Order: sequence, then structure tokens, then C-alpha cells
Amino acid sequence: MQIHRHQNLLNYNTFRVTAQADYLVEIASANQLQELFSDKFLSDLPRFILGGGSNILFTGDISGLIIKVNIPGIEIIDEDHNFIWIKAGAGQNWHDLVSYCVDNGWYGIENLALIPGSCGAAPIQNIGAYGVELNNVLDSLEAFEIETGKIRTFCNQDCLFNYRYSIFKDHLKGKYIISSITLKLSKRPEFTLTYLSLNDYLKKSETEVTLRSIYDAVISIRRSKLPDPKELGNCGSFFKNPEIGEERYLTLKSSFPDLKAHPSGPGAFKLSAAWLIEQCGWKGKRIGSAGVYGQQALVLVNYGSSSGEEIANLAAEIQDSVAEKFNVSLVPEVTII
Ligand code: EPU
Repeated sequence: MQIHRHQNLLNYNTFRVTAQADYLVEIASANQLQELFSDKFLSDLPRFILGGGSNILFTGDISGLIIKVNIPGIEIIDEDHNFIWIKAGAGQNWHDLVSYCVDNGWYGIENLALIPGSCGAAPIQNIGAYGVELNNVLDSLEAFEIETGKIRTFCNQDCLFNYRYSIFKDHLKGKYIISSITLKLSKRPEFTLTYLSLNDYLKKSETEVTLRSIYDAVISIRRSKLPDPKELGNCGSFFKNPEIGEERYLTLKSSFPDLKAHPSGPGAFKLSAAWLIEQCGWKGKRIGSAGVYGQQALVLVNYGSSSGEEIANLAAEIQDSVAEKFNVSLVPEVTII
């Protein structure tokens, strides 16, 4: 296990903001987690667990320990005629796993191509895009229990998945460190083409619908709307799409007939946060080095030298104006530290 002191976190977060951690430890195996927590000094420090750093905003220095989980590996653990079970280490890059599965002809995560971040972070916020969420394919995961030092297996139902939510976001927050995930993927063609923009893209491109063409389409749509964190610091969607009840939806719709929303359950509607933000005039706006991306209003970007605090202040201003105009509160999807 590698320990760094006074570590600059610039290269550990895709917003590319500067912050310093007192200690940062890089973990390459579940055994190293045991080693870490048997060290009295390190295990007593306040701690924060980091994956790919693609859903986090540091607004200041971190006094304590950052645990960067790098556990690698992809392996087949079981298969039958129809399905295959793939286990990936928590530190494995998510998109590389998607590409590997598409290359091998396994169906289920092609709609989740190009999502930045690590496999271990994916279940925490139940990553989702283009009609698929991780919980549709996650069989189980293994996690290190900090208090006992034991590895526990969680099946899909144990994780209480919901929209950008799992039990690791509240009840079990800080109690476990995910060490691996196991996905159940299909060996037979099974596509999800419920998302309008993906469906339209495939129709327009007139290509045959295959595992590869969906994967390519998702990559192409994402590239046209979302900035590449290697070129422009960002964390994807900064806010969640807010969910409201039918009555409020109808009231809002009568005041704003163009309101963008879709039914999300019985008597519930999910509003497009990007549309709300755009209507408040924020799309493409910039305050200093922090800004709202010109192609997708839900994405906040760092044009170079923004501090985490400046981005957080911009987010707060956006929340205020959306609350004032629509009486809707936007909840960050990104974890703000
Ligand atoms: N829209 C606007 N203005 C914009 C962008 C979009 O009005 O600037 C409207 C359009 O009407 C569009 C609709 O919003 O049809 C939906 O836009 P989009 O397809 O880009 O999806 P989104 O709801 O803004 C969500 C996820 C994304 C995910 C896409 C595709 C959340 C918070 N975000 O965005 O996830 O890629 O759907 O499934 O649910 C992420 O979580 O980091 C992320 C990028």
C-alpha cells in the first residue's frame, strides 16, 4: 500500500480543482484494506473513500486520509447458456469494462458506455444513462466492512437501488468500502431502446441495431453533449432531475407549457433539470473560471483555474434562481466535500 503525504488532489478529481489531502493511500487489493485498518494511526484519521473522482467536488483541503481504491481485474465467474457473470475489481475503469463486454458480445451495459469513473463507485450512485441503470445488471457486490475487517456480499436487493441512489449513500455511508462488483449480462441480444434521443439517433443513422451500433451511438451522443473531462474539468450532471407529484406537475405545466418532463412512476413526474437551468438563462454562462456548459445546461465546468468553492458558489446561484422561477429545488448529484 502506497501512502502519500500532503497530496495535491488535482489529478484525482475530474473537475480538476486543487485541494490538498493530509494523507492519501492507494489500495491495490482487499488484503491491503485489512492492512490499512490494522494501522492504528491511519485508521483513526477522518477518512474519505475515492474512486475515479468523477462525481466529487472538493471545496477545500482535506484534513485526514483519502483512500483511493485501485483494486484491478475483470474475470468470468460463471456462465450458462444464456447468461454470463462478470466480476470486476472496484478500481477497474467503468468504460473499459463496458468496452470489454461489448467486444465479447455480452449484452446489458452498452447504454452505459463512456460514463467516467470506477466500477466500485458505479453502484454507490447507481449510475444510469439512456434508459439503463446499473441496478438492471448488477448481480451482487463485495464490500469491506470497516468495523469488522470482513468482506461482506450484498445482493442486488440489499443495495436498495433507486434513481442515483443506493444504501451506501446514507444508511451504510462510511461503513463499507466496495471491493468488487459482479454483473449478470446476457449472451443473447437484449436491447434497451426506450430513451428517445438514442432511438432517434439510431433511426436517423439507418444502421442495423446491434450491440456495437448502440455502444457507438451512445458514445457519439455523449461526445456531442458532454465535455470530455480530459479537456474540460467536469463531473457530468451536477444536479439530479427533480421528481414531483402529479398535482404540482400540472400546476407548473399550466404556467410553463413547454416544461420538459416525463412520467417516472405512479403519480410522479421527473423534470428535466437541464431545461429548468436553461430557462433561467444559465446555459453557456461563465463566472470567472466556473461555468455552465453550452451544450448541456446540467453540466458545470471548470474552464481552467476555478476553485472548488467557485464551482459550489455557481451551483448555489443556479439553485436559487431555479427555486425562485419554478419553486423547484435542485439537489446536487455530485458529492460536495
Ligand atoms: N435539455 C434542455 N437543455 C439542455 C439539455 C437538455 O432543455 O441544455 C432537455 C432536452 O429536452 C432533452 C432533455 O432535457 O431532451 C433530456 O436531456 P438529456 O438526454 O441530455 O438527459 P438529462 O436528463 O439532462 C440524464 C442524466 C445523464 C444521462 C442522460 C441520458 C441525470 C441527472 N442525468 O441527463 O447522466 O447521461 O440523462 O440518459 O439523470 C450524469 O449522471 O452525470 C449524466 C450525465
